Amino acid sequence: MASIILKGSGQKMPIVGFGLWKVTKSSCADTVYNAIKHGYRLLDGAGDYGNEKEAGEGVARAIKDGLVKREELFITSKLWNTFHAREHVRQMADYQLKLWGIEYFDLFLIHFPVSLKYVDPGHRYPPEWFGDDGKVYTQNTPIQETWEAMEELHSAGLAKNIGISNFAGGLIIDLMRYARVPPAVLQIEHHPYLTQEHLVRLAQEFGIAITAYSSFGPQSFVELNMDRDAKLLLEHDTVTSIAAEHDKTPAQVLLRWATQRGIAVIPKSNNQKRLEQNLHCIDFNLSPEQIKEISSLNHNLRFNDPADIDVRLSIFA
Ligand SMILES: NC(=O)c1ccc[n+]([C@@H]2O[C@H](COP(=O)([O-])OP(=O)(O)OC[C@H]3O[C@@H](n4cnc5c(N)ncnc54)[C@H](OP(=O)(O)O)[C@@H]3O)[C@@H](O)[C@H]2O)c1
Repeated sequence: MASIILKGSGQKMPIVGFGLWKVTKSSCADTVYNAIKHGYRLLDGAGDYGNEKEAGEGVARAIKDGLVKREELFITSKLWNTFHAREHVRQMADYQLKLWGIEYFDLFLIHFPVSLKYVDPGHRYPPEWFGDDGKVYTQNTPIQETWEAMEELHSAGLAKNIGISNFAGGLIIDLMRYARVPPAVLQIEHHPYLTQEHLVRLAQEFGIAITAYSSFGPQSFVELNMDRDAKLLLEHDTVTSIAAEHDKTPAQVLLRWATQRGIAVIPKSNNQKRLEQNLHCIDFNLSPEQIKEISSLNHNLRFNDPADIDVRLSIFA
């Protein structure tokens, strides 16, 4: 599997991984096991996905059956918004590692630059965006405090790499002013409707590797009624005609459009065939014209925006 070498640790991050958001809890252990069996080595999880325990069971079974060794896997997880205070970062890293049944994360990300009021995991886990009364409660924890606590996880060996997700340029520039351990990875929504070229260039300038999420654009958001009635990228003429030229699927073309530009991808599928298809997306090359044609679909259309929940969370404004 092709990989990106992460600055700092020098660790190799596979360029194609498996995303765990909305992977059904009841089948998650089997899905993860099968993903590993078919060659995935990177698993992208998060406290918020509510399936870390089950994902860990899949990993444990794959290791027990000799499919893979722990050190051959790259396991990512993320710190949720309610745990940004210094004392909660370590608490949650320990808690999440225990759920996974592993000793360390290969990558631990701040999920959003959004600090919400602490929710005890004993009370509700994952806590999601809202309090018990359905309201959003913000908390005044600056990102610098959270980042310093992330650096402590790194020093303690609980996270081999630390990074950020859903951060925009201004916050990254500021973080780079004080970071003792710079972020190794920036994970962002990235697809042909939202190419974020300046953000990509900024991260590359800082040597921060980029992982794209929701590579298929609206597809992931259809089931949540959050697709903003956008034309499906997987059915877009530009994508389907390029796919036909290469005898590949539209999904493979969308993934290759990112990886060929050095951006890692983490497609999710609850379907075995599609899971396999998504992994095999780097054995062909798009022409520079085809990449340009796909990029020209950009119209800054974002699907995952916390501002839709509460205007005080307008991190992309
Ligand atoms: N950092 C963040 O804030 C953040 C936010 C969102 C996502 N992520 C991460 O990124 C991962 C990927 O993003 P995502 O889950 O939003 O979306 P995605 O991988 O772009 O799309 C998933 C959707 O596409 C379908 N699909 C998968 N493979 C397909 C194929 N080959 N052909 C046709 N349809 C296909 C899936 O349905 P089936 O399951 O039925 O195949 C599902 O509806 C997540 O799982 C998560 O790990 C991170």
